[in-house]
Amino acid sequence: MATIAIYSVKGGVGKTTFAVNLAWCSSQISCRKTLLWDLDAASGSGFLLGIDPRKKHEAQSVFADGSDPAKLIRHSRYPGLDLLPADESIRTLDRQFDRLGKKKRLAKLVSGLAKEYDRIIFDCPPVLNEVSAQVMRAADVVIVPLPPSPLSARALDAVVEEVRGSGKGHPPILPVLSMIDMRRSLHREAREANPTWPVVPLASAVEQCAVERQPVAAFAPKSPAARAFAQLWTAIERKLASQ
Ligand SMILES: Nc1ncnc2c1ncn2[C@@H]1O[C@H](COP(=O)(O)OP(=O)(O)OP(=O)(O)O)[C@@H](O)[C@H]1O
Ligand SMILES: [Mg+2]
Repeated sequence: MATIAIYSVKGGVGKTTFAVNLAWCSSQISCRKTLLWDLDAASGSGFLLGIDPRKKHEAQSVFADGSDPAKLIRHSRYPGLDLLPADESIRTLDRQFDRLGKKKRLAKLVSGLAKEYDRIIFDCPPVLNEVSAQVMRAADVVIVPLPPSPLSARALDAVVEEVRGSGKGHPPILPVLSMIDMRRSLHREAREANPTWPVVPLASAVEQCAVERQPVAAFAPKSPAARAFAQLWTAIERKLASQ
């Protein structure tokens, strides 16, 4: 089993979009039993998978001592792809972790799910607190979506620092250029400066995910964006295999 975190300290960079599309690739292309674990109270992952929230706000109960995350897991319409949904109750998850006082609570929950799943993908909130610290201790690789802007470089620096702070044997980071538009010179320059980083293009098909409430490959399988996510997934699997 391997755990993949999609993380950045910056909001709106494509984390949820990546998480949902990569979870689809993991389950439908690689046929891995996959859990998409939404750690953001905004619960965008469930929305993009077409899964409506239950009325009860119970996501925080997953993290309490003696809890069983399996109780909250929902099947998606795609075989082998499940969701552990978020809701408003995890808005203060950092404080809940602090109160628990267990630095590896999330890692422990992950290891409890290892029998059921081959891949767990975290959709992270844009925070730098105990939630991100727990994610770093639980993840085998950290994917950082970076829109091509000077501010993104600072976001990457912050992630690198956070990962290093998670101690010995910290997870590797894979930066990915997100929302690249090769018609713009700044974007071309960002591409040229980082030729080995995977790329996800700016595409209306990706925006359309929120209208269709499906991963892009499910409704536009031949689109460049679907191809880009499949290639990114291959790069992630390669990175995991090389560890
Ligand atoms: N490659 C892309 N092409 C076009 N639009 C995109 C692309 N990636 C993301 N978007 C759009 O950008 C917006 C933000 O994306 P997303 O919600 O995935 O970011 P996020 O990092 O999860 O945000 P937050 O920090 O708020 O959770 C969404 O409207 C999404 O449709
Ligand atoms: Mg998000």
